[in-house]
Amino acid sequence: MNTNTDGSSPSRVSTLAPKEGGGFPNPGLPPHSPRQADISEPAEKRAERLVAFLFLLSVAGTVVFIAAYFLVTPLDTNIFAEEGTPRALWWSNLVTGLGLAIAVFFIGAAAVHWAKTLMPDQEWVEERHDIRGSDETRKIAAEMITGGLAETGIGRRPVMVTAMVAALAALPIAVLAPLSTLGPLPGNKLHHTFWGHNPGQRLARDHDGTPIKLSDVAMNSIFHVMPEGLTHETPHHLEERAKAAAVIVRIDPRLGQNEESMSMGVQGVLAFSKICTHVGCPVALYEQQTHHMLCPCHQSTFDVTDGAKVIFGPAHRPLPQLPIEVDAEGYLVAPGDFTEPIGPSFWNIHKDK
Ligand code: FES
Repeated sequence: MNTNTDGSSPSRVSTLAPKEGGGFPNPGLPPHSPRQADISEPAEKRAERLVAFLFLLSVAGTVVFIAAYFLVTPLDTNIFAEEGTPRALWWSNLVTGLGLAIAVFFIGAAAVHWAKTLMPDQEWVEERHDIRGSDETRKIAAEMITGGLAETGIGRRPVMVTAMVAALAALPIAVLAPLSTLGPLPGNKLHHTFWGHNPGQRLARDHDGTPIKLSDVAMNSIFHVMPEGLTHETPHHLEERAKAAAVIVRIDPRLGQNEESMSMGVQGVLAFSKICTHVGCPVALYEQQTHHMLCPCHQSTFDVTDGAKVIFGPAHRPLPQLPIEVDAEGYLVAPGDFTEPIGPSFWNIHKDK
């Protein structure tokens, strides 16, 4: 029977009993219970024969594979089907595959049975040697270090050491210098879009710029929209388009779970930024049955009925919503900007705009 490292006898019972003075005693290893093959010679012989039989089955599988490789080929000899036909290929794959599977499987089965019935199954603990070096070794190491330092003469050359420290401290500054040429800081540009620069604009179809009436938006439909006033003549129009891109969807108002979000829409028509809050891909897929919007890049999923909250994926913020109204002629208009900065989050996203 094994003995614990503290000299006590192995026992499972002791694991729950706290040791005097705190902590738990070493639980040790459970006592070894002999198997049939350990105590009975006939059982041992039986196990041995079974292991040998399993290995022989593996040999048989290998023979099947080799025979099939030459006798059940897809294009030449095939004892089951006409050569060169799909049937011949099917037979070839089947028989060679089965042969190989049998060969591999029975090697594994034999090894497992061998290990479980005949291999020694007692566990042994090998104590780890002390990691700390002996006092003598430590003394020698300390002498080597101090001796090495003395040989370098560092202690006698303070000017050189000071210069070295200065050089090492200055080098990182050279790495920082290129940062000064990265261009102007973005200021509050990331907080505003073209919708906010020109309040009251109509929502226009992205592809042809025509404004959208409330009555155009059928239930469960989706439109990709831009501010009507954003044209090719607009300065930096590509950047402005990238920030202003939005989608509108219409849901049954009774499905709305988020009062604040529903109040920013009109009769179930809601507008959200199209720019994913993860890393900025266009969120362009709308699932009509579940009212989920999906970003195709990393599968962030936003629930339109609940203020476009994230219900799956790596995005952390809901899609910013664009409050909308209807003007006197029935067109959808945006009285202001998105409720939050659009796109991926950045370090001062909620700083005063
Ligand atoms: Fe949308 Fe990553 S950019 S999930």
